[in-house]
Amino acid sequence: MKFFVDTADTAEIEELAAAGLIDGVTTNPSLIHKSGKNFLEVTREICALTPGPVSAEVLALDHEEMMREAEHLRKIADNVCIKVPLTLEGLKTCKALSDEGTMVNVTLCFSANQALLAAKAGATFVSPFVGRHDDNGLDGMGLLRDIRLIYDNYAFDTQILVASVRHPIHVLESARIGADVATMPAKVIKSLVNHVLTDKGLEGFLADWAKTGQTIG
Ligand code: G3P
Repeated sequence: MKFFVDTADTAEIEELAAAGLIDGVTTNPSLIHKSGKNFLEVTREICALTPGPVSAEVLALDHEEMMREAEHLRKIADNVCIKVPLTLEGLKTCKALSDEGTMVNVTLCFSANQALLAAKAGATFVSPFVGRHDDNGLDGMGLLRDIRLIYDNYAFDTQILVASVRHPIHVLESARIGADVATMPAKVIKSLVNHVLTDKGLEGFLADWAKTGQTIG
């Protein structure tokens, strides 16, 4: 499963990229707002930090205007992936952009039927929001399982990009289900390293090493 980091914070991206932990980046208007930076400028900076896909979201609601915005965004770098909402206008835009060979991430997916539409429109990625699904008393992982089954039934190439990932169990379950990508806040990626037995084991080794009185080099 590929890991994308869900942020517009370049320091976070640099840190994770240095550890080889990320395969791409996703942003959204809320994350751009949080960064306090200019959308096009920060997207350019992010694209230079990773060779992987960098999702940048259009804000328009109609197809023509989405295409116009996408034109600006895709000029930024070859690894820009245009993010469109799961609406009819978004799907129309997805189809047009994918036909031209541009990567598209169809976002705000909350049902398996919506994911089916995204695949039919040629999406590179579909983003089911599992955390927000759970927040509303729905079964985020059940949604993923349905999408995986449907995509496999018909051999759709669209990659399942799990979004709104809130904690390590979401990551574990997504990997079990066979999601292609999980996009997560940096803090969730970092939390995956934690294990009490790793900490305890390291503590024990260091204590015994200190007793040897030795140093390396
Ligand atoms: O980028 C979309 C998604 O990952 C948002 O997550 O936590 O705001 O529901 P969240």
